[in-house]
Amino acid sequence: MKYTIITGATSGIGYDLSKVFASNKHNLILVSRNKEKLETIKHTLSKEYLIDVLIFTCDLSRSEEINNLCENIISSKVQIEYLVNNAGVGSFGPFYKIPENEDLNIIDLNIRSLTHMTKVFLPYFVEKNHGGILNVSSTAAFSPGPYMAVYYSSKAYVLSLTEALREEVKNKDIKISVLCPGPTDTNFQNNAKVKKADFAKKSMMDSSTVATIAYDGFIKGKTIIIPGFNNKFLAFFSKILPRKLLIKIISKVNGV
Ligand SMILES: NC(=O)c1ccc[n+]([C@@H]2O[C@H](COP(=O)([O-])OP(=O)(O)OC[C@H]3O[C@@H](n4cnc5c(N)ncnc54)[C@H](OP(=O)(O)O)[C@@H]3O)[C@@H](O)[C@H]2O)c1
Repeated sequence: MKYTIITGATSGIGYDLSKVFASNKHNLILVSRNKEKLETIKHTLSKEYLIDVLIFTCDLSRSEEINNLCENIISSKVQIEYLVNNAGVGSFGPFYKIPENEDLNIIDLNIRSLTHMTKVFLPYFVEKNHGGILNVSSTAAFSPGPYMAVYYSSKAYVLSLTEALREEVKNKDIKISVLCPGPTDTNFQNNAKVKKADFAKKSMMDSSTVATIAYDGFIKGKTIIIPGFNNKFLAFFSKILPRKLLIKIISKVNGV
């Protein structure tokens, strides 16, 4: 039996990705810090979609916990087919006012843990010449992001890493994709204390639509998956606008 690992599966995009993978008959290994929520989701998805679900609690911002997680997954002797690096957090405000631990936590989770998980599982996929990794970035990857500077930078790293890895394994039967959603209606905005204008709240995508588009794009082998017209439009304009102007626009949109 083959399994897909999904990090940050208890909420938002990760939860909806878990549902979409389950509905397409993938067995799941779900990871987050919250045991109770994981148990509830395991119960719901295994019953509704008749798949096997394994759950692992792990604080992915702590590398010793990632080591334990990977050892436990490998020693459970199940075959891993796909890895979805979804767990991520943000922070909001001027860089010089955001507490150090919040921004360092973004680097530990959004960058370090994603790289660590990829370091463990990409060689495994290469050895089998089969598998895939879906990394969750953001439209934030396309520009510097005043007032969410570390978050935007972390997502640029995820985009860059994923495109590079895709090229490295292009002759193998391995899928490598990066999902770049724009603002999506999840707990993310509240947790990151993002202030959003009413018009911006209304234009958010729902996470189940994002997850469905992500799954389809990943299975088809797309490299960069950008859900929704507005986000594609933003990605296009970030390529053609002068960088100085782009930064000013993002600064106005994020501005506190
Ligand atoms: N929502 C948006 O507007 C948006 C836009 C673009 C990209 N994204 C990206 O989409 C991804 C998912 O975000 P979301 O919007 O679905 O946010 P969310 O609803 O806040 O979900 C975040 C998930 O990550 C898990 N998580 C957080 N810290 C963790 C840690 N230290 N260790 C393990 N798991 C941890 C949480 O689980 P526990 O609390 O149970 O541990 C939760 O399942 C992130 O990478 C985010 O950057 C979001």
